[in-house]
Amino acid sequence: MAEFGFSSTAEQVSEGIELSGKVYVLTGCSSGLGEETLRVLGLRGAEIIGLARTTDKAQAALDAHGVTGSAVACELSDPASVRAAVQTVRGLGKPLAGIIANAGIMTLPEPRTTLGLDLQFLTNHIGHFILVTGLVDLLSDDGRVVMVSSGAHFMAPEVGIDFDNLSGQRDYQPWRTYGQSKLANLLVAKKLARTLGGSRTANALHPGVIQTKLGRHLDDYDGLLDNIGRDKLKTVGQGAATSVYLAVHPDVADKTGLYFDSCQVKEPSKQALDEALADRLWVESERIVASL
Ligand SMILES: NC(=O)c1ccc[n+]([C@@H]2O[C@H](COP(=O)([O-])OP(=O)(O)OC[C@H]3O[C@@H](n4cnc5c(N)ncnc54)[C@H](OP(=O)(O)O)[C@@H]3O)[C@@H](O)[C@H]2O)c1
Repeated sequence: MAEFGFSSTAEQVSEGIELSGKVYVLTGCSSGLGEETLRVLGLRGAEIIGLARTTDKAQAALDAHGVTGSAVACELSDPASVRAAVQTVRGLGKPLAGIIANAGIMTLPEPRTTLGLDLQFLTNHIGHFILVTGLVDLLSDDGRVVMVSSGAHFMAPEVGIDFDNLSGQRDYQPWRTYGQSKLANLLVAKKLARTLGGSRTANALHPGVIQTKLGRHLDDYDGLLDNIGRDKLKTVGQGAATSVYLAVHPDVADKTGLYFDSCQVKEPSKQALDEALADRLWVESERIVASL
């Protein structure tokens, strides 16, 4: 495998890879790591179906970087919006080289329950679950699902997913609840890896720690980043590298069900390796989605 690591950028990991004719669905394309992923995949010739809360936001990102593609509205906390996005993408009638589930929110200071679910679980997991399950059959034979998880999945509850507290109302802790939603991203990648046919793959990743709008709900984001150590932070270009690597690099064409950090396989938490937990999350998610 190529020797990419902490400092590698999305441009470096995709250098020389020609993506003309390849179509990628990308959530959260309008800012931070998603916008950089859009820019670099576009630079390599890919067509991007960019999803953002509004069509205008997605179109602005495509225009800003001169990337060819389609702008699709997808408010992940609104199942009707996600279902409409699925129909719009399906209507484009294109085989997908990849689905990159990148959008996310982090550490809301107070519990926020929408449709009976904690808003982070609803946005980061359930919204993406509706999207990915609605599009997965459009993946080409070697298509790839990339779930942008987080090292914060290690902060998930002891039980992994606290199915008795999906509203987040009991004993709310911002990092734990965020971690649970990111563990769910990882478990979905694991489950997909076991069920996707052909040469399709599904992997999850931690992008590193990058100063983006993700920290908007934290009281003292700057202080947190100072504590982590500024030398431990990645640039946005470095932060998007593992997503782009997993989406396009030939070295990982046969890698599936794995967790990556800095373009290297990394051991995730014990809960993330629990196949029974992944199965239960999948079944519960289907039940929840059917009820929404
Ligand atoms: N930055 C880090 O240090 C870090 C570390 C670990 C993992 N991650 C993960 O990396 C991913 C990208 O984060 P980022 O750092 O690039 O943050 P960001 O700049 O805040 O970007 C997040 C994107 O998600 C979109 N989004 C949020 N809620 C949404 C919703 N309900 N419906 C549709 N789109 C929604 C945002 O749209 P709006 O701008 O319209 O809100 C934005 O485009 C996230 O999944 C995050 O958990 C980041």
